[in-house]
Amino acid sequence: MDILFLGNSYYAFSIDPEVRKFIASLDKKMVGKIVNFGSAAMLNSTYKKVKAEADRVGIPIDEREFHCKGEFKGIHKGKPDEEDCKAAAEFAKSILR
Ligand SMILES: Cc1cc2nc3c(=O)[nH]c(=O)nc-3n(C[C@H](O)[C@H](O)[C@H](O)COP(=O)(O)O)c2cc1C
Repeated sequence: MDILFLGNSYYAFSIDPEVRKFIASLDKKMVGKIVNFGSAAMLNSTYKKVKAEADRVGIPIDEREFHCKGEFKGIHKGKPDEEDCKAAAEFAKSILR
């Protein structure tokens, strides 16, 4: 079954309602597991929020996730940067290995 790499982030301390809707629309027969990644600026992980939605539709979420800082209102300027993109690619490969 497919692995869904789901990129998402925080907006005003919550994940985007569109991401909630998207997860709710998933078919557990099609998606074997979700792998979470994101670029929140202050908070480090959307894992718990994404897991809560994934639990509703019965799709497991891998314990491994990727996060790097994102730019927000002048904080972390230039992020994600080239190094972050390399690390994200490495992370994705490590999941597929
Ligand atoms: C309106 C708005 C609200 C945000 N609120 C938060 C927040 O509460 N916590 C946080 O860590 N980052 C927050 N961020 C930063 C984003 O999560 C970060 O910039 C992320 O990289 C955005 O990814 P995107 O450009 O793919 O949407 C906010 C960004 C915006 C635009």
